[in-house]
Amino acid sequence: MVQVRHGERTIELRPGETVLDGLLRSGAYFPYHCRSGACHTCIAQATAGSPPPLAQGDLTSAERAEGYFLACLAVPETDLVVRAVY
Ligand code: FES
Repeated sequence: MVQVRHGERTIELRPGETVLDGLLRSGAYFPYHCRSGACHTCIAQATAGSPPPLAQGDLTSAERAEGYFLACLAVPETDLVVRAVY
């Protein structure tokens, strides 16, 4: 099971679950709007671990290099520590 840590909260993602859906299921506050990769409201930064490339495709190369990703598209294969940007 992939674990995601956000602040004091650590959750286990269900198979195929996005970071955003897992955090919302756990009761965490996390900003979002479209849930489809269009609005970038759910942009997050991985401070540990590697976000999935699919969740970084629409970001700048500088953002990707700094670990930014869209939580609504991210189904990670490894554990992540994340922080919301907005
Ligand atoms: S909620 Fe709009 S890009 Fe993720």
